[in-house]
Amino acid sequence: MASTGYGRGLVLYAILFAVLVAGSNAIDIFLEWKVTFDTTIKPVTVDQPIIAINGMFPGPLINATTNDFVHVNVFNNLDEPLLFTWNGIQQRLNSWQDGVSGTNCPILPGTNWTYVFQTKDQIGSFFYFPSIKFQKDAGGFGPIRVNNRNVIAVPFPKPEAEFDLLIGDWSYGNYKRSRSTLGTKEMAYYTISDTILMNGKGPYGQPFSKSFESFTVTQGKTYRFRISNVGSSVNFNFRIQNHQTVLVETEGSYTNQITLDSLDVHIGQSYSVLVTMNQNEADYYMVASPILISTIADSSLVGVGVLHYSNSNAKVSGPLPRGPDPFDLLLSVNQAKSIRWNLTAGAARPNPQGTFNVMNVTLSQTFILQGSKAVINGIPLYAVNNVSYYTPHTPLKLADYFVNGTGVYTLDAFPLQSVNAKAAYGISVVTGIHKGWVELIFKNNLDVIDTWHLDGFGLHVVGFGNGDWTPELSRSSYNLIDPVVRSTVQVYPRGWTAVYAFLDNPGMWNLRSQHLKHWYLGQELYVRVHNDDPNPAKERPQPENLLLCGIFDDSNAPASAPSPAPWT
Ligand SMILES: *[C@@H]1O[C@H](CO)[C@@H](O)[C@H](O)[C@H]1NC(C)=O
Ligand SMILES: *[C@@H]1O[C@H](CO)[C@@H](O)[C@H](O)[C@H]1NC(C)=O
Ligand SMILES: *[C@@H]1O[C@H](CO)[C@@H](O)[C@H](O)[C@H]1NC(C)=O
Ligand SMILES: *[C@@H]1O[C@H](CO)[C@@H](O)[C@H](O)[C@H]1NC(C)=O
Ligand SMILES: *[C@@H]1O[C@H](CO)[C@@H](O)[C@H](O)[C@H]1NC(C)=O
Ligand SMILES: *[C@@H]1O[C@H](CO)[C@@H](O)[C@H](O)[C@H]1NC(C)=O
Repeated sequence: MASTGYGRGLVLYAILFAVLVAGSNAIDIFLEWKVTFDTTIKPVTVDQPIIAINGMFPGPLINATTNDFVHVNVFNNLDEPLLFTWNGIQQRLNSWQDGVSGTNCPILPGTNWTYVFQTKDQIGSFFYFPSIKFQKDAGGFGPIRVNNRNVIAVPFPKPEAEFDLLIGDWSYGNYKRSRSTLGTKEMAYYTISDTILMNGKGPYGQPFSKSFESFTVTQGKTYRFRISNVGSSVNFNFRIQNHQTVLVETEGSYTNQITLDSLDVHIGQSYSVLVTMNQNEADYYMVASPILISTIADSSLVGVGVLHYSNSNAKVSGPLPRGPDPFDLLLSVNQAKSIRWNLTAGAARPNPQGTFNVMNVTLSQTFILQGSKAVINGIPLYAVNNVSYYTPHTPLKLADYFVNGTGVYTLDAFPLQSVNAKAAYGISVVTGIHKGWVELIFKNNLDVIDTWHLDGFGLHVVGFGNGDWTPELSRSSYNLIDPVVRSTVQVYPRGWTAVYAFLDNPGMWNLRSQHLKHWYLGQELYVRVHNDDPNPAKERPQPENLLLCGIFDDSNAPASAPSPAPWT
């Protein structure tokens, strides 16, 4: 229609004009997402429902700049409730938009709901995914870029182009069927995924694969790859045949630039690497192989894509480039320790990253969090400090805001260090002291590498260690000079990882394992950071479109209440 076209032109013109006038000022980005089960997209030769956004898998890129406002109007055309969370976007003063079960009522099937959030004081590479009902296992994820404002220099020359590369393990079959065994006595603790997809495409060269990911590049040029692990249960090592990668950014921090033959990416993590196309005109393998899993006998669990030089006539051939020994965790730990913050680089704010250093901070709190298996009433589950999180009908944030938690959760009932108590369910909410520094010690007594994520804050990764964490000895090994700041950190089996976080962001914040099954079956808690100052500038008031459910749902419509626990 002519009038619509004219209207859109005017809006575009208005936005352009605003940008020209304001220079580096933030803009509003409006997105409309139709979320469906798609049966036409087939990474592999299996019929399975895939969660697609606007017919795309992975979903569309959110391409924002520091301080932009992102409006995402989500139409839930699935047959069950849905929420999206924005992994690593800090939602400053605004946990209302965080999109996890403890902050938001789900978007019911057949309805739409608009998230509005700001990429306040952030830059970097992130991704979004559906946060409830094990849906991430079926897709629904997509990339987020937060670009530097023009006024702040990026600490490396502008690359020729940027590629978003979402890599994750993938299971054949129906996620609802997998979900139905979780939280029942029939659940097997470990099942191994079937393959690894790159941007929703199967591995190159495998008979079961219907397509593969390929990037076309020009010899001599340098490209930025934004790589995220969007998987459910597999950590991987990424490498490109005959090419080195230069690590430059992780989850919103510019790192000291280090040159690597390969890079470990754990579940929920994101990195930017630069790759210079300094080889002969040819095609090269891009590989993502699992850590702590052998693929010698069966290579289906190796993600493979192709880097295609534009004048290449040769197809990739021969064996895949060998990575490090997948069982050599010392190598992985050493790489993790070598990832440091670039203190002099500017990022979201005009002053350099190192202005906000942790060298002399005073800690207000220490939480020692042990992730483990737990069996409750014969049901295999996961727990933190022997408490397996139980998702209430009512989001904690709503309960906090309207009734100070009454009838929904008991603040600080959760033990802040592992006690030898029998495993039990709990609705775990702990106090994080506003504007205090918290030290989080993650311990892992599982056989797999776990990954932990905190919404709302950056984690300053000060240490990794083996065996038990002890205050004097372990703390003396911390790197307080240039620890990298990120949102998701790995914890090695029978080891610990220590991070600091500055709790300057009031809200109700999810602290979780990114390992989907661990999270789904109870390995999470919430940190309530409260500011007594009622000034709305200190924490945003409820959004106008706030959804109500649980004890605040007066419609008496049973269908609008979320399940009492995510696995039911
Ligand atoms: C993302 O936004 C930046 C800044 O506005 C722009 O330069 C770039 O072309 C955009 N990229 C894509 C893929 O849309
Ligand atoms: C649902 O979508 C309509 C049409 O785009 C929009 O006007 C409305 O605000 C949306 N509703 C919510 C709750 O976001
Ligand atoms: C840190 O960033 C600066 C730009 O501010 C850059 O010149 C320097 O090379 C970076 N240092 C490292 C070790 O990457
Ligand atoms: C930390 O404190 C010491 C001793 O007061 C001081 O010399 C040092 O400059 C401080 N470091 C930073 C990064 O502020
Ligand atoms: C809210 O609950 C906490 C304990 O959970 C209590 O300390 C506080 O006084 C309560 N605040 C109000 C306003 O009732
Ligand atoms: C509590 O959890 C720890 C692991 O975190 C475990 O070793 C211990 O056996 C558990 N205690 C009970 C009584 O289940």
